[in-house]
Amino acid sequence: MIVSFGAVNVDLIYSVQNHPEKGETVVCPEYQARIGGKGANQAMAAHLMGAETRFYGAVGQDAFAQMVVEAFDEKQLWSGGLRKSELPTGTASVAVDLDGENRIIVAAGANNACCANDIPDSVLDSDTFVLSQLEVPLEQTYTLFKRAYAGGATTVLSFAPARNISLDILDFVSIIVLNVVEMRQLSQIVGLKGESLDPISLAMELGRHLKKVVVVTLGQEGAFLYSPSAGSYKVSALEIDPVDTTGAGDAFCGIFTAGLDAGDDMQEALKAAAIGSGLTCLKLG
Ligand code: RIB
Repeated sequence: MIVSFGAVNVDLIYSVQNHPEKGETVVCPEYQARIGGKGANQAMAAHLMGAETRFYGAVGQDAFAQMVVEAFDEKQLWSGGLRKSELPTGTASVAVDLDGENRIIVAAGANNACCANDIPDSVLDSDTFVLSQLEVPLEQTYTLFKRAYAGGATTVLSFAPARNISLDILDFVSIIVLNVVEMRQLSQIVGLKGESLDPISLAMELGRHLKKVVVVTLGQEGAFLYSPSAGSYKVSALEIDPVDTTGAGDAFCGIFTAGLDAGDDMQEALKAAAIGSGLTCLKLG
């Protein structure tokens, strides 16, 4: 089973020719509203890969909350872990340009009310993968990982968005997934002097330093995994012309974790994640 904990937003997606400069207004014909948030994206990807997935997060008591529940129901993703908050449902303004690159502003709202203690101990055992990121209050992720690690679960931390975490949480992380920018930030936080290293060397350095599995996504170069016990692997990316890269990293995390949950070895899970996350870039949203 996968327990996914984190943010759920309604993404308001704007297709723009170019991103606005400071002080500039750009106009596009319309927007699309889709369910997003790093936690919900990761959970949905894992669920669509066939993993038994429970998502825990928080929404408000507004029309956007209704949209979230309906979207979960439509895809048959369990919505029983959605806490109802007084705060408004989280939203994200996602502008996507012609190269598929995005600029995102998140209004966290109810995500700030999500609570690790909503997750019962009974699902935090050695049969469970716990997947989370840094888009919700850090102390909640910390509490969850501490409990999950003690219960024997495998904990997967998506280091997104990169934040200045307290190093204690890393004691309770089994696998860290990040992109190159996030990896450089984490390396600095843990005191590694790896500025001059290429991404693969830095991932190995970080993995050795933390004694953890480190998975780094490399965009069009694919992905690389370092494991202290199972070696290291590099996989290629799909050759694609991306329409929208939003959420590709989240899909990667969900698919990778679903692969491990299904009993795949790390290399197989990595390969599937690289392919699946590439496929998500082929359309908007
Ligand atoms: O990683 C992409 C996600 O970041 C979007 O869905 C948006 O909601 C923000 O959380």
